Amino acid sequence: MYTLAIESSCDETAAAVLQDCKVQSSIIASQIEIHRKTGGVVPEVASRNHLQQLRPVLEQALKQANITPQELDCIAATSGPGLASSLLVGHTSAKALALALNKPFMAINHLEGHLLSPFLEQQHIPAHLALIVSGGHTMLVDVAAVGEYHLLGRSVDDAAGEAFDKVGKMLDLPYPGGPEIEKLAKQGTPSTFALPKGKVSEDPFSFSFSGLKTAVLYLLRKLDKDKSLWLADLCSSFQHAVCSVLVERTLYAVEKTGRKTIALSGGVACNGYLRNLLQQACKKEGITVHLCPPQWTTDNAAMIGYAAWARLQANIPATDLTEDVNPNQPFTVDNQGHLAPNRATKIPLTKK
Ligand code: KG4
Ligand code: ZN
Repeated sequence: MYTLAIESSCDETAAAVLQDCKVQSSIIASQIEIHRKTGGVVPEVASRNHLQQLRPVLEQALKQANITPQELDCIAATSGPGLASSLLVGHTSAKALALALNKPFMAINHLEGHLLSPFLEQQHIPAHLALIVSGGHTMLVDVAAVGEYHLLGRSVDDAAGEAFDKVGKMLDLPYPGGPEIEKLAKQGTPSTFALPKGKVSEDPFSFSFSGLKTAVLYLLRKLDKDKSLWLADLCSSFQHAVCSVLVERTLYAVEKTGRKTIALSGGVACNGYLRNLLQQACKKEGITVHLCPPQWTTDNAAMIGYAAWARLQANIPATDLTEDVNPNQPFTVDNQGHLAPNRATKIPLTKK
């Protein structure tokens, strides 16, 4: 079975061809250089660029896979969450292709793409505990099977990647801040600055990174004007504060759910410090860990094609062509079995 997948939820225009679960081609046109000028993604600029990039990216993906559109068996695209105007470009094009070629269309949740990406190209996806750490979301999900996702916890304010990017901006680092902070942190000592960990005391499965961000802001006011004296140490301390709470809470969730496998995905999953910390902790506890290969951690279409293949394998039906994009599309259920929002809508009051 050949799947053509398109991803355009934020600032990468991507297309991939998969034969069953194996990637035949994966093309990504990144807009990072464009958004660097504004220090972040401007939605209208992103969607205009998707429009320009999509056709060449699609053609390249088909060419590299050595396949014609008529040989495809399924067309998949990200339907949410993401920026509405960006999602619409890839989603509408995929539906048009599916209609013209008379092939099934699979709408895929971007976060499900990330969640399954640590298993990319593998035939079997085991029940596991998933930690998704991307630019927009930080979630702990109990995965019983493909399509059966139970939300355990998430960030009540900023996502981990968002915290990296915002602190990067405070430090005048290029966008996105995550990889820049990791580079600088390698020269620093994590214990130099005592920063608050991103915990929510009432909920052991949730995260909160806005207090940590504010602590960095206040600390910056007190530090010497000569950045070279503290920049690497601050990056290292901040990175440690974010990563240690992620690992701590994931292991707590493993203990509570009894799962024996953890999977780490999303843009922040390519952070080497986080990967090491999680790997070491899992080794100690005898837990199997699947780290998403670095090339699939940030946005790509291969993970969308893989999720489409996995859903079809699990007998989940194709999507009707009348379906629209949903910028806040949920994909997990809460304790009552209701669809759970991906992002918390309000910050819980802290106990006095
Ligand atoms: O998953 P992704 O490509 O986009 C979303 O779906 O949000 O993740 C992008 C995020 C950005 O916030 C970026 O700063 C972060 O991943 N990131 C990193 C690293 N590489 C990318 N954060 C920390 N360390 C890295 N090495
Ligand atoms: Zn993403």
